[in-house]
Amino acid sequence: MPNSAERPRRIRVDREGPLLVEGPVEVTDGDGVVHESHRFQVAICTCRRSRTFPWCDTSHRRRQTAQESATPRPSDREGGEET
Ligand code: FES
Repeated sequence: MPNSAERPRRIRVDREGPLLVEGPVEVTDGDGVVHESHRFQVAICTCRRSRTFPWCDTSHRRRQTAQESATPRPSDREGGEET
């Protein structure tokens, strides 16, 4: 559905991942290069690890997995959960 004054474009922010934007879109990168997508919804990389930047290629998931395995859960610590 195209955006309009009555129906603004919707962008969903994924805290640990991409911006999900209703397409079609044009994205101008830091070098001034314009990237076009005519998909119904596009995922724009915010972690800058994508090999297809500015589009998300799910590389952010590998970073999350590494961080999750390196961060001890409260129940893993001596004494259990924090009070
Ligand atoms: S946000 Fe998905 S690869 Fe960067």
